Amino acid sequence: MERGVCSLEKKILEIKERVLSELKKAESFDAIQEIRVKFLGKKGELTQVLRQMGTLAPEERPRIGQLANEVRALLTERLEKKLSILREQEKEKKLKSERIDVTLPGRPLRRGHRHPISLVLEEIKDIFTAMGFEIAEGPEVEWDYYNFEALNIPKDHPARDMQDSFYITDEILLRTHTSPVQVRVLEKSVPKVPVRIIAPGKVYRRDDDATHSPMFHQVEGLLVDKRCTLGDLKGVLLAFARQMFGQDRQIRLRPSFFPFTEPSAEVDISCVNCGGKGCRVCSWTGWLEILGAGMVHPRVLETTGYNPEEVVGFAFGMGVERIAMLKYGIPDLRLFFENDIRFLHQF
Ligand code: DAH
Repeated sequence: MERGVCSLEKKILEIKERVLSELKKAESFDAIQEIRVKFLGKKGELTQVLRQMGTLAPEERPRIGQLANEVRALLTERLEKKLSILREQEKEKKLKSERIDVTLPGRPLRRGHRHPISLVLEEIKDIFTAMGFEIAEGPEVEWDYYNFEALNIPKDHPARDMQDSFYITDEILLRTHTSPVQVRVLEKSVPKVPVRIIAPGKVYRRDDDATHSPMFHQVEGLLVDKRCTLGDLKGVLLAFARQMFGQDRQIRLRPSFFPFTEPSAEVDISCVNCGGKGCRVCSWTGWLEILGAGMVHPRVLETTGYNPEEVVGFAFGMGVERIAMLKYGIPDLRLFFENDIRFLHQF
């Protein structure tokens, strides 16, 4: 009997020491849980020992029972304590790793700005609206009728070859120029004069190289009134050229051909680089071509319901990319659409 008491008591005390020492080494919630199961759980070592109480002499039971209860209580308390220490440490670690240093300087947001094409478009619009032109718009998906037919370019006309387009059906295409807006505006305005509009917008052609893009921008101009001459056209374009490219610009009109104007002209400005002396930019001619223009063809007026005996008009059309390239000295048109931030940030 004596030995029984002794060995049970020893076992309990030994379990206590082992738990305390294992607890010291435990560094995780899992490790602590493992200790709990191993010693205090239903099949734990301490529980097993208590099951052997029945082997004790009745007078020994209270003492050993009390000891066992004290040890269980102590161990449970130590386990809880260790758990709460671990929780504290965990929290501490999280706070440290998530700490925000409010004294660090912020990351500056790069200020955005408009695309160079938009900037030039705005400038063109400002110049012409100040001269009394209104802004008109037309669809980018256009009828063959407005894009060609009504502009005096019939189906078999060779002028169509210069504006090969993207056809959606035989009769519907992506517009190849902004000139169809002339027809749409005239149809709506007839018989009222004066008509004074510019029509900015996107146009599409089957072109793709350093100076041509399948999508680009044009600004169309149209003025129809009872009286109007080639001199008026030249005056308006000179005013535009000087505001856009500098007050010392000169312009010249060279005879040309467009089916929807008669007479027609290509309009040049004196070179923005050399001022007209001749340089690489202007191919040593002193001049840079910037737009097409002319007096509105009587047939266009007639088609839209105006009487060409009573009204006259002039029209012009310019490529916005071309204007922007000349203004900013940009050598390749494709740069506008590659979205390289290093390029775009320069304007
Ligand atoms: N639509 C012509 C083109 O894209 C440009 C043009 C030339 C427009 C003469 C006009 C004009 O209004 O009068 O090539």
